[in-house]
Amino acid sequence: MRIAVLASGFGSNLQALIDQLHAPPEVPIEIGLVLSDRPKAYALERARKAGIPTAIVRFRDYSDRRAFDAAIAEQIERHGCELIVLAGFMRILGPEFVRRYAGRVLNIHPSLLPAFPGTHGIRDALEYGVKVTGVTVHFVEEEVDAGPVIAQVPVFVDPEDTEETLAEKIHAQEHRIYPQVVLAVAEGRVRVEGRRVFVEPEEIR
Ligand code: GRF
Repeated sequence: MRIAVLASGFGSNLQALIDQLHAPPEVPIEIGLVLSDRPKAYALERARKAGIPTAIVRFRDYSDRRAFDAAIAEQIERHGCELIVLAGFMRILGPEFVRRYAGRVLNIHPSLLPAFPGTHGIRDALEYGVKVTGVTVHFVEEEVDAGPVIAQVPVFVDPEDTEETLAEKIHAQEHRIYPQVVLAVAEGRVRVEGRRVFVEPEEIR
């Protein structure tokens, strides 16, 4: 299956997807497009190094969000991608886009949702003082950071943790579980019943 990865920044999750899914010839997944809203995103560089087609769709080049979303959809269709994987994509996709690709857009978030949604999931958890935070992979729906949860992994917060050390632990888990979830969805091993998601043959954790 051909997938599109949307990223705005560093692209470490993209790199994990390249290394674990795109590069190994025995895995039936090809990253057919890496799309970014930021021309300078290092994610684009990672894609180029791996020989993956890239596209830049800048929000300010469009009159409104619908037009921006439509430009993204056009790239996805042009590259024949069937699954959309958000990996640090800092733009919200509108309701029409989400409806069009219902059940085919995944996101990863650096906290145990519904705790600490938004752009600072790691810092917010640390400042709140929780002892356990983690990683969530979920389907994208209209409401931000709120779609059905596919996988969650806990990460313990140690007394000496800083935002940097906690981020390191969280990213290590992200890089481990995101490729597994993408593969499970691509292989049709993920079933949604209302809010509950079931992964065959076993949950990813
Ligand atoms: C990750 O922590 C992810 O959970 C969040 O954005 C960050 C992206 O990091 N959505 P990277 O660009 O993949 O390194």
